[in-house]
Amino acid sequence: MALVAALRSVFYGLLASTGLYALFIGLLTIPVLQDQVIYLNRVTLTWFQDVNIPEQWGFLRNQVTPFFLTTPDGESLHAWHILPLELYRQNQEALSTEPQGLALDVKKRLSFKLLRDDPSSLLVLYFHGAAGTLGSGWRPPSYRAMSVGAPHRIHTLAIDYRGFGSSSGYPSEKGLLTDAITLAEWAMKEAGIPPSRIVIFAQSIGTAVSLSLVHHMATQPKPVLFSGLVLVAPFADVESLTATYRIAGTVPLLDPVAKFPRLLAWLNTLIITKWPSKTKLADFIRQCEDMDQESPRYDVTIIHAEDDYDIPWSHSEKLFWHAANASMTHGITFDELEKEKIASRVNNDAGGWAVERRTRRGVIREEIMKYGLHDRIMSYPVVSLAVMRAFKTLV
Ligand SMILES: *[C@@H]1O[C@H](CO)[C@@H](O)[C@H](O)[C@H]1NC(C)=O
Repeated sequence: MALVAALRSVFYGLLASTGLYALFIGLLTIPVLQDQVIYLNRVTLTWFQDVNIPEQWGFLRNQVTPFFLTTPDGESLHAWHILPLELYRQNQEALSTEPQGLALDVKKRLSFKLLRDDPSSLLVLYFHGAAGTLGSGWRPPSYRAMSVGAPHRIHTLAIDYRGFGSSSGYPSEKGLLTDAITLAEWAMKEAGIPPSRIVIFAQSIGTAVSLSLVHHMATQPKPVLFSGLVLVAPFADVESLTATYRIAGTVPLLDPVAKFPRLLAWLNTLIITKWPSKTKLADFIRQCEDMDQESPRYDVTIIHAEDDYDIPWSHSEKLFWHAANASMTHGITFDELEKEKIASRVNNDAGGWAVERRTRRGVIREEIMKYGLHDRIMSYPVVSLAVMRAFKTLV
């Protein structure tokens, strides 16, 4: 009897959890809830910490200037301007006499003048991943990794997108692109840095935002091309992400659904957030390949770790293929490209491998590290080096 009772409770337990899961999948078809899962913007990870005091994340006094940017549609975006260390050292005394914390008028701050007034200053526009704020996780060490290659000149500007941290509003595909454009326009117009001195750096969902940004800028009547683009742990698009994404690298959210391709395909038709990165990247490359000889050249680096449990590195393989394919008049199949890659790649053993393709109007790189996980890799030397290369004037 005890056995029957035990079996019965197991049976009811399974029934209940299947029911709960079905309910969860049902809830996922509601757009507002989808966005909560995709952006995780309310999971701030810096709870009870004031993101206007960057010293909490290991920065020196006034090495970081927090300020707000206003978007054309009226949202206010929380931003950090991070000074590189050698430039900081040269100005330490003057910087330490300035007030700390949020700058109400950033243009009056020395940090801003150091960026604007030096004709050799370089700038990274930084687009972070899902969840958290400007100060969470591996982001602060990652900001510091941006400038390692030229610590007297490489500034970094990072934002919390709408709906994240202290920024106003709710995240959306269109909204995040507006945020990215706002930051880029501010950098070019207010700080006066030409696109040839700007590199775009992004991780995880930030890579989708940045691909939308570079695509948007390159397809304007007067195309704008940044010096380079560095993508860390990107994904091909939301549709292929749903099958493989693991929250915090552990919870394979849609694994049970992914076992039924038709069910997954149906679910995907209901997910309104698309972030079609592979198409944006291919269109961007085609756009650049069509430009004339005098136009600037494009420079794209894709970096992924083999031990990334959140987003598998197969997404980078896919993106690289779409980029390479778009750079060739007659295209190339995935398998053909794989053969070429194996023949031409630099093998770094425990350090992973790298492939570089020089195209007619630019260069596309893929660097697969053996170690780095999903977030930690943003602070690694492979990233510092990629940023250096992306600033073509540096190397
Ligand atoms: C690859 O490029 C060719 C030629 O431009 C194009 O016809 C084809 O659709 C591309 N393949 C993919 C998967 O985008």
